[in-house]
Amino acid sequence: MFRIESKISTNSDDFRENTEHNKSLLAELKERMEQVKLGGPEHHRQRHIDRGKMPVRDRVKNLLDPGSPFLEFSTLAAWDQHDNEVPGAGVVTGVGRVHGREVLIVANDATVKGGTYLPMTIKKHIRAQEIALDNNLPCVYLVDSGGIFLPLQIGTFPDKEHFGRIFYNQARMSREGITQIAVVMGSCTAGGAYVPAMADEVVQVRKQGTIFIGGPPLVEAATGEKVSAEDLGGADVHCRISGVSDHFANNDEHALKISRNIIAELDRKRKFELDCTEPEDPYYDPEELYGIIPKSTAKPYDIREVIARIVDRSEFQEFKETYAGTIVTGFARIMGYPVGIVGNNGVLFPESARKAAHFITLCGMRKTPLIYLQNITGFIVGKQYEHGGLPRDGAKMVHATANVDVPRFTLIIGASNGAGNYAMCGRGYLPRLLWMWPNSRISVMGGEQAAGVLTDVKKNQLKKAGKEIDEKAMEDMRNRILAEYEHDSSAYFSTSRMWDDGILDPTDTRTALALGISMSLNKQIPDYKMGVFRM
Ligand code: COA
Repeated sequence: MFRIESKISTNSDDFRENTEHNKSLLAELKERMEQVKLGGPEHHRQRHIDRGKMPVRDRVKNLLDPGSPFLEFSTLAAWDQHDNEVPGAGVVTGVGRVHGREVLIVANDATVKGGTYLPMTIKKHIRAQEIALDNNLPCVYLVDSGGIFLPLQIGTFPDKEHFGRIFYNQARMSREGITQIAVVMGSCTAGGAYVPAMADEVVQVRKQGTIFIGGPPLVEAATGEKVSAEDLGGADVHCRISGVSDHFANNDEHALKISRNIIAELDRKRKFELDCTEPEDPYYDPEELYGIIPKSTAKPYDIREVIARIVDRSEFQEFKETYAGTIVTGFARIMGYPVGIVGNNGVLFPESARKAAHFITLCGMRKTPLIYLQNITGFIVGKQYEHGGLPRDGAKMVHATANVDVPRFTLIIGASNGAGNYAMCGRGYLPRLLWMWPNSRISVMGGEQAAGVLTDVKKNQLKKAGKEIDEKAMEDMRNRILAEYEHDSSAYFSTSRMWDDGILDPTDTRTALALGISMSLNKQIPDYKMGVFRM
C-alpha cells in the first residue's frame, strides 16, 4: 500500500486556529464526561458507599480483566434532559473483557433516581442488548434498580421498545445461546425482578440485593403482612428457600469474582478470522486531527487527511482514486485489522454513489469490515442530475449499504444531512456502532436551507390566502428556525437522545474502531447477498 502524502501545513494560521477551536470543544466534552461519571447527587453517592456498595464504575472495573479497556456507550445519554438530574440516563453500558472474552455489561447506577428506568434508561439498556445480539456477546447485568421511574409512565411502560422489551430480549438471546447473567447488587423491584428471573444464571449479594415482584410497602397495603425487604427477597431467601438465585455472594467484590468464574467456564466460541497484520501507529500524528477539522462543517477539506491519521502507517490502497472525487474509497488497516473505508469528500454526485456502491460490494464479497466517515450535506440537485436518474444511483449506494452484511462502523465527523446520512450508513442502517466527533452536526438539512424552505412555504400560504407578507415577522421566523437548528443539530443533542453510541475524542477513533471490530468478530460474517440494484 502507498502512504498518503499529507498536504497540511502544521505552521499555518488555519491549522493553529482549528487546533484552538477543536481543543476547546474537547475540553468541553471531557468536562461533561467527568461530571456525568460522578453519578447522582453527593448525598446519594455517600449513602451508597455507607451501605457497603461499590460505585457503579468500580463494579464494572472489578468485573473486567485488570487493565483491560472498556468500550463505554452513550456516556452522555439524557444530557440536558430532566434538568440534568439523570446523568448517563442512570445506567452504564459497554463492552469489556473478562478472562479474555468480550462481554456486554449493563450496570444500573443506584445513585441516580434509585437506578430507576426513565425513557432514555430503557433506550440505553435495549441498545446495549441489541449490540450484544448483533455481535454475539454474553450479557452481564449488574442490577441495582427500583424498576420503572413511575412519574413517566408515558415513554417507559407499554410500548414495543419500553421496559418489557428488556425481558423479551433476554429470553430471545438465551435461546440463541447468548448467555445472560444477572448480578443482584441492590434492588430488583416489580418489573425489575424479571432481569434476574429471566437470566441464565443469577448471583445475589447478601443483605444488599433483593428481588421481589411487590416490595414490603405493597405487601403490607395488599395483605397487612409486615415483612422486611431482606426477609421478603434477600439473598438468603432466594439462594436457600425460593431457588430464584443460583450463587450466594457476601459482598460486591465476591459477587463479581463469582461472575468472572461463570464467564471463565462458558463455551468459548470461535471468532471470525480476519487476515490481521501487526498493528502500527499512523505515520502522521493523530493529534494533528485537531488542526485539520475546520471550525465550520460547511468548509470543505480532503478526507484523506483524516484517513492518514487513523490508519496504520497512514497507508491507504485507494480504489478509483481518479474517478468521482467527492467520495473516497479504499482499503487500509486499523490496529492490524483490514478495513474498507468510504469517506465523503464533498457533495454526492451520481458517479460518487455508483463508485461507493461498487466498493461496498467489494467489501461484502471479501468479508472486509467497512468504515464510513460521514461528512455529507447531501446529494447534488438540479435538472441535469434528475434527468440523468440521480435517485436511481443514490439508491444503489443506499442498497449496497443496507444489504452488505460485513460489520459496519459509522463516524459522523462533520455534517450529516439528508439522504447522505442514509447512504453513508446512518443510524437507520444499523451500523454495529455509530459515533460522533464533538464538532459534528446532524439534521435533516442545514439550518439555512430549512429556514429558507419554511419561510418560502409560509409566504406562499399567505399569498394564497390573500394576506400581506410582514417581512419583519418572516425575518423573526427565519432567525427562530436558525437558532433551533443550531441547538438541535449539535452532537450533544444527538447523543442525549442516543441517535449515536457516543461522542469520541477524534484521537480515540483508532482505538474505538479496533475495539469495535474485535467485538464484531464474535459473530461470523455471512456470505455476500444483495437485492435488486436499479440499473
Ligand atoms: N419512580 C420514581 N422515582 C423513584 C422510584 C420510582 N419507582 N423509586 C425511587 N425513586 C427515586 C426517589 O424519589 C429518590 O429520588 P431523588 O434522588 O430525586 O431524591 C431516589 O429515587 C432514591 O430513592 P430512595 O428511596 O431515597 O433510595 P433507596 O436507595 O433507599 O431505595 C429503591 C431505592 C428503588 C429501593 C426504593 O426507592 C423503592 O423501593 N422504590 C420503589 C420501587 C418500585 O416500587 N418500583 C416499581 C417499578 S415497576
